[in-house]
Amino acid sequence: MVDRYFTQRLRLEPIGPAHAVDLWRLHADEPVAIWHLGRLRLPEAQATADEMAAGWARDGVHKWIAYHRVSGELMGRGGLSYQHVDGARRLEIGWIVRARYWGRGYATEIGRAGLDVGFGELGADEIVAFTEPENGRSRAVMERLGMSDPRPIRHRGEHFVLYTLPRP
Ligand SMILES: CC(C)(COP(=O)(O)OP(=O)(O)OC[C@H]1O[C@@H](n2cnc3c(N)ncnc32)[C@H](O)[C@@H]1OP(=O)(O)O)[C@@H](O)C(=O)NCCC(=O)NCCS
Repeated sequence: MVDRYFTQRLRLEPIGPAHAVDLWRLHADEPVAIWHLGRLRLPEAQATADEMAAGWARDGVHKWIAYHRVSGELMGRGGLSYQHVDGARRLEIGWIVRARYWGRGYATEIGRAGLDVGFGELGADEIVAFTEPENGRSRAVMERLGMSDPRPIRHRGEHFVLYTLPRP
């Protein structure tokens, strides 16, 4: 199992039941809520944290929560999880950063950590990412990470664009 992971600026911890309040805080951030699932009520945040903990136990990987290495500040969440996407079980990578920290490369830093673990420890042949077609900031992270070949997909009835990165 991939455990705690340090990047240059971030401490990434596997999300578990104890992170419910921080998840709730992250999703209470208005610009984040607009782009990602809306605000979570505390019981929903607890259920999400519990599901992610189960994902870690089942698959050996799931999303991290991100804290600043020096200040300990909550920065965001992200990383890898196995998901059924576009007709197959795929290793998916994602990111959410508190809006006050947008524009400083934190999402790309989380993404690089995920790719490192996915292609390294997990031996993935391919990692995918998807977002709403109009989510330009998330698409820009995908492109900065070298993900390419965007194609439209439907996921749970909604329109998304799927990027792929084959094993380097
Ligand atoms: C998507 C999201 C995580 C992107 O955050 P972001 O801050 O734009 O992305 P990054 O952290 O990679 O930062 C990139 C910006 O920082 C700049 N930057 C500064 N230092 C940098 C560094 N060391 N590395 C990379 N970029 C850096 C880049 O030039 C870029 O600037 P720009 O926005 O002016 O072009 C953020 O908008 C978000 O949380 N959105 C809501 C949730 C969401 O939609 N998540 C995706 C769901 S699929």
